[in-house]
Amino acid sequence: MTTPPIDRPALPLPENGTGEPLLEVRNLTKWFPVNSSGVIRRTIGQVQAVDGVSFTVPKGGALGLVGESGCGKSTTGRVITRLYDPTAGEMFFEGQDMAKLSKKQMLPLRREVQMIFQDPYSSLNPRHTVGTIVGVPLRVHKVVPDNKVLSRVQELLEVVGLNPEHYNRYPNEFSGGQRQRIGIARALALQPKLLVADEPVSALDVSIQAQVVNLLQDVQREFGIAFLFIAHDLSIVRHFCPEVAVMYLGKIVEIADRESLYHRAMHPYTQALLSAVPDVKQAAIGGRRERIRLTGDVPSPVDPPSGCRFRTRCQLAQEICARHEPPLMQIGPRQKVACHFAGEIGHHPAQPVTAPLYPEEPGASASAQTQESADRIREVSSDPGWGPRWLDLGSGSVVER
Ligand SMILES: Nc1ncnc2c1ncn2[C@@H]1O[C@H](COP(=O)(O)OP(=O)(O)OP(=O)(O)O)[C@@H](O)[C@H]1O
Ligand code: SF4
Ligand SMILES: [Mg+2]
Repeated sequence: MTTPPIDRPALPLPENGTGEPLLEVRNLTKWFPVNSSGVIRRTIGQVQAVDGVSFTVPKGGALGLVGESGCGKSTTGRVITRLYDPTAGEMFFEGQDMAKLSKKQMLPLRREVQMIFQDPYSSLNPRHTVGTIVGVPLRVHKVVPDNKVLSRVQELLEVVGLNPEHYNRYPNEFSGGQRQRIGIARALALQPKLLVADEPVSALDVSIQAQVVNLLQDVQREFGIAFLFIAHDLSIVRHFCPEVAVMYLGKIVEIADRESLYHRAMHPYTQALLSAVPDVKQAAIGGRRERIRLTGDVPSPVDPPSGCRFRTRCQLAQEICARHEPPLMQIGPRQKVACHFAGEIGHHPAQPVTAPLYPEEPGASASAQTQESADRIREVSSDPGWGPRWLDLGSGSVVER
């Protein structure tokens, strides 16, 4: 069998900036308590799975969320769909803060935000027929009268490329790719405005992956659905997502439009991830073809490193990286980065770009000018989405759109 390529043209950015936000996430945090064993269980720590992430997903757009295993991608997706309650932060969906809604108040919004799960084997109940699996949301939310459920299920199966006559079959009668299509049909049943696709193809055979990505792009275009597309590496989201956020140990370290991220990544972690993508143009990694190998293990999210969480694996780390957490600064019209030494590969500055924020550091000055520079950095580090101003890394001044 030949592998069909991902043959849909890459989605362009909406012309009016990134478009109106459908979802705006501010400082979203999800910690899981770690309890002691024994009869009296006490909380002895917290897994800081997601720790203050901010981003927006534009209406009908697609944001990719990428990072190594355990960095908090699924947890972010599960909090957004309210499968988990957030520990802190805000999630505005069409202006309404989902984080503050009770389970009952969330019910109408559940229709609008659906999830496609990573594992098409465990996410479908093996005892239910496809007709029941896809039909249940239609019945629960009373989307169509009971006597129309079957015909709607068949329509949905057709949309995702399955035989509509197979509605009475069980999941084990389908291949992995077909099961993922069933999961997509279930997610589409409620005509959501936002789909959280949690590594929707990583459990599938390589030959099937492109077919499923093509299908997701088709449904996005046809129904205008916005996507939060979660993936392990940067190769799949490159095609699907006009904007991509890179996560490391519960934090976003870089977020940018496709062009900036793949050609002018500024964070050492993004640069390392890009060097592992075989078909990224040479220019994206500064003309270097060799892979940047990340040494050491990802630290535990129960006890993350102080300051920059990436510092234990970063070749550029200096003392300031252990003392201060770098803010996520907007450094271009559609690029933000959290690194004291942000710069293109091979061109990282010798002095921290964030120095004005830390007048107490050895050798720093506390002049009025420094204070002004610090205010400028804070100004471009505050909100999710793209502001009209950004820090020009070359000159240290703020540029206005
Ligand atoms: N229910 C839970 N209770 C306690 N810890 C959890 C829970 N769910 C996730 N975690 C922890 O939170 C961290 C982030 O997990 P998460 O599943 O979000 O990562 P991920 O980026 O999706 O990883 P993967 O790529 O392997 O799917 C991990 O350390 C994980 O062990
Ligand atoms: S802040 Fe320091 S440790 Fe973190 S990525 Fe930048 S250089 Fe590396
Ligand atoms: Mg996951």
